[in-house]
Amino acid sequence: MRILSGIQPSGTLHLGNYFGMMKPALELQEQGEALYFIADYHSMTSLFDPAERRRNTWDVALDFLACGLDPSRTIFFRQSDIPEVTELTWMLGTLTPMGLLERCHSYKDKTSKGIASNFGLFAYPVLMAADILIYDSNVVPVGQDQKQHVEVTRDIAIKFNEQYGETFVIPEPRIRSEVAKVPGTDGEKMSKSYGNTVEIFGEEKAVRKKIMGIKMDSRTPQEPKPDAENNLAIQLLELVAPPEFAADYQERLRAGGFGYGDLKKALFEQYWTYFAAARAKRAELAANPDYVNKVLSDGAVKARTLAEKVLKRARVASGLE
Ligand code: TRP
Repeated sequence: MRILSGIQPSGTLHLGNYFGMMKPALELQEQGEALYFIADYHSMTSLFDPAERRRNTWDVALDFLACGLDPSRTIFFRQSDIPEVTELTWMLGTLTPMGLLERCHSYKDKTSKGIASNFGLFAYPVLMAADILIYDSNVVPVGQDQKQHVEVTRDIAIKFNEQYGETFVIPEPRIRSEVAKVPGTDGEKMSKSYGNTVEIFGEEKAVRKKIMGIKMDSRTPQEPKPDAENNLAIQLLELVAPPEFAADYQERLRAGGFGYGDLKKALFEQYWTYFAAARAKRAELAANPDYVNKVLSDGAVKARTLAEKVLKRARVASGLE
């Protein structure tokens, strides 16, 4: 089974990214041949600052390696190191009906939010289809928001196979179950666009401040809290603390006589410990850019070998060769 997923380099990763996407992706490494790439071509559809793109790409590479991506078993690379994917994007685009792209929610959402539409933004799902098809991927783990893009990929692949003969493997989306609901500091879903995030590798003081600022109600410490399971700090504690620890704190809150300040202090300590090993690893990687660059370039060589084969198949099938 070949597993493929792309990660947008969209800035500092937070707990929502970690528990929603990164941790499940890292666990999947064990289940097949995984290819994970940093989707820097895709980032061009809405980010126009070169320094920021470079920095974000680098940060995502460090974050994934620090959190346990194992480059000896997973092919980890930068999307743009495989330029074959852009040629395939063109070929697929010629078989993609306009209406298919016009129906994509993600495009409609982005433009309705005021993101300027451009050809790349419109063609985003075609580039994504090329990403998936060029590695003969079987399984594509994505969040619910990207499911439609994998369905578009399937439609395009089926159409190509019908038009030009069997060429592409038809991939299956694997939708991450939203078991790990990560609330932000204000109780909304944790998301960069809501400004309610807690970073994975945030600076100590800044994160402490964010955690101490998590929204609570105005009940006094003395009052029992029969609804303790809904407390935001408890919910975050359940993600980063051992289960007995989180259960004990929930009990204290329920019983009454335990203040929110102490709860948040405990949350900070548990968060800090949870990522301690990854934090140390990240510092080590940051001090060793040659190693990180080597991981990415080795990944690119492996990915490119796979991509060249599939592109050749598509070129022959369509009569370019
Ligand atoms: N569009 C995906 C996202 O925003 C990232 C991505 C790009 C991707 N290419 C992909 C995901 C191919 C899976 C497969 O999350």
